[in-house]
Amino acid sequence: MSEVTEDRYADFYTRQLASPTLARIYREVYGDDHPEELRPFGFVTRTDLARFADLLSLRPGELLVDVGCGRGGPGVSLARDAGARLLGLDPVESAVRGARELSVTLGLPEARFEIGGFTATGLGDASCDAVLSVDALWMVWNKRAAFAEMARILRPGGRLVFSTWEPGYLDHAKMLVRAGFTVTAKEEAHRWLERQLEVYRLVLQEADTLREELGPGAPVLLAEAKDTPATLPDTPRYIIAATL
Ligand SMILES: C[S@@+](CC[C@H](N)C(=O)[O-])C[C@H]1O[C@@H](n2cnc3c(N)ncnc32)[C@H](O)[C@@H]1O
Repeated sequence: MSEVTEDRYADFYTRQLASPTLARIYREVYGDDHPEELRPFGFVTRTDLARFADLLSLRPGELLVDVGCGRGGPGVSLARDAGARLLGLDPVESAVRGARELSVTLGLPEARFEIGGFTATGLGDASCDAVLSVDALWMVWNKRAAFAEMARILRPGGRLVFSTWEPGYLDHAKMLVRAGFTVTAKEEAHRWLERQLEVYRLVLQEADTLREELGPGAPVLLAEAKDTPATLPDTPRYIIAATL
């Protein structure tokens, strides 16, 4: 399947932890709201994580699937705190390897991480209780197929909770309804715009140092920091929840 060959972040994940400058940028911009210990790659905050926890309402023993898990930290913290089981899926092998290591550090060594994605989960029908996805759905070309797969793997009553950006031509809520979901929340993430723009400004300001620290992982980040700000104000970052 084409999506499992999506690997633009492979070099980034290999070098992410070697960049004190990138870590400092996030610390400066988000302060205490940055969950640094989870090593996120994206814009998730502690405020977002608290909202995800509410919307997921995980019970002990339930299976949470984190799609586009990257290094896995956000899903690990939510599953660990709820006593739930966790499967993380990402098309990038260096991310999956990093997630296996980080889950041990974060105290959830039994978490599983596999290569996979939105339309390549490898899971059976109605096999999970909840799906989380943090800042990953925007990368998926065929969102209709992605939502159909989420509807297939979630059990009746299962919850889907995700954050993503919504350009004007796209209506995630409408697509979810078409896929059989009931949308239970759609809200802009707390103070997302000013802080995301500030991250990009500082990334461009520190471009030379980031090139040194991230090596082949730098170009994808620098390109995003250069190209995204122009359209960002018209592309809100939403937290969306739906149930079957
Ligand atoms: C911005 S990162 C977010 C990672 C992680 N959720 C976090 O918050 O730290 C987006 C992730 O989506 C993954 N991705 C790309 N295409 C995907 C797809 N079709 N299905 C699932 N994940 C995908 C990327 O490899 C990347 O790890």
